[in-house]
Amino acid sequence: MNVAIDLANLVAIALIIYGLHELNSPATARRGNRFAMGGMAIALAGILIRTQGIGWQVVAIGVAIGAIVGIYAALKVKMTAMPQMVALYNGAGGGAAALISTVEHYVAHGSSMNDVISVSLVLSAIIGSVSFAGSIIAFLKLQEVMTGRPLTYPGQQFVNGVVLLAILGLAVWFVVTSGTLPAWGYVVLLLAALLLGVLFVLPIGGADMPVVISLLNSFTGVAVAITGFELDSTLLIICGALVGASGTILTVAMSRAMNRPLTNVLFGAFGAAGGTVVAGAGGAPQQVRATSADDVAVMLAYANKVIFVPGYGMAVAQAQHSVKALADQLEKRGVKVLYAIHPVAGRMPGHMNVLLAEANVPYDELLDLEDANTELPTADVALVIGANDVTNPAARNVPSSPIYGMPILDVDKAKNVVVLKRSMRSGFAGIENPLYELPNASMLFGDAKASVDALTAAVKAL
Ligand code: TAP
Repeated sequence: MNVAIDLANLVAIALIIYGLHELNSPATARRGNRFAMGGMAIALAGILIRTQGIGWQVVAIGVAIGAIVGIYAALKVKMTAMPQMVALYNGAGGGAAALISTVEHYVAHGSSMNDVISVSLVLSAIIGSVSFAGSIIAFLKLQEVMTGRPLTYPGQQFVNGVVLLAILGLAVWFVVTSGTLPAWGYVVLLLAALLLGVLFVLPIGGADMPVVISLLNSFTGVAVAITGFELDSTLLIICGALVGASGTILTVAMSRAMNRPLTNVLFGAFGAAGGTVVAGAGGAPQQVRATSADDVAVMLAYANKVIFVPGYGMAVAQAQHSVKALADQLEKRGVKVLYAIHPVAGRMPGHMNVLLAEANVPYDELLDLEDANTELPTADVALVIGANDVTNPAARNVPSSPIYGMPILDVDKAKNVVVLKRSMRSGFAGIENPLYELPNASMLFGDAKASVDALTAAVKAL
């Protein structure tokens, strides 16, 4: 029987890894999720059989409650609220790892534990608690229950350092006494870890939360993998390691795409100025050319190639279906339409891909940064839909700019650039965009959805 369960676990792990691989492309991502779900179901069945059904009723109730909450939340959540939902789920994973360690400590192992177990217990309790508390703060910031601005105060790093040292001291005490330290010591350890999670996320701006959530996600993975050592579960060790590794890779990839070291994301209190009106060179307002939907419609309708450049504003306006309708109108007239996708456009990884997939935009029309920059100089119109920072040429040529060095979409190299946004307010980075003053650029002010709908109507009427 044990051999059969080990084999089943192997199949489960293979399915989960294959599922992860399928997430590489939007075209196969749904299938990948199904494979991973199958893997999880097999893993769960294996555990029930191995434990000979002990407490299966409790497991069944847990699975039922989890499934109901999960399905309801996934159906109800708005696409723009996805990052905070991920934060909550991630926090639950970290909290579970800490709770399992606590139960293992007091119920299963008591005072008879070897060093591997005591180190595993204390590490997963600490990392899981940090991840739980940090994820809750990330959720509260993104949900705007608390301010999304970085909360900083003098001596912040010092305070964090003291809390970290206290945790390390208590952890050493736990290990050298094989977990027989007084109960208050363990409680203080858990509370200090929770406090560190809160303190760690408070100074990070709301818009940097996706990077933080990804990092906390990797923490949760590590905590779960360590829990696997406590429970002697290869399955947990491998799945936890996969989460830990993929979370780390995603964190690094996001920081790179913003050309900011991770330390700047975590300790730079970046994004405090996002959404403010910014002045042009010398403090004067930027000189831009406003245009009308009718004029842009003519430009689009008689173009050979149009490249749409979506950003955070498209997500806010929920304009993806309108964008697809405009593309259909243009394609009917023989215009070639492509979409340029910057890796950090929007506020979460794959944000634009998910929205455009929801609107049934064909995957082969989506260009990544490199391909888009090859195509943009040959485009008649680059239509920037609620994107700002990811099109800012200052990243290429203003060394003093906070985003200098960030790879951007070269929309300024298209014959014409039309920017759809509501005002002259900045994007996430809180800086002016010299693109708007270029001779080939014009601004179509208004909500992205309303503007795109007006363009579609005007193209139709031509
Ligand atoms: P942003 O630079 O944030 O600019 C978005 C623009 O959309 C704003 O300037 C805003 O101008 C406009 N907008 C907002 N609501 C709108 C609406 N309803 N209709 C029309 N326009 C609207 O966005 P981006 O270009 O997508 O760049 C993303 C930024 O987020 C980057 O700085 C990136 O580093 C950062 N970031 C991204 C991620 C991930 S993983 N994607 C994670 C963390 C940080 P108005 O207010 O004038 O309309």
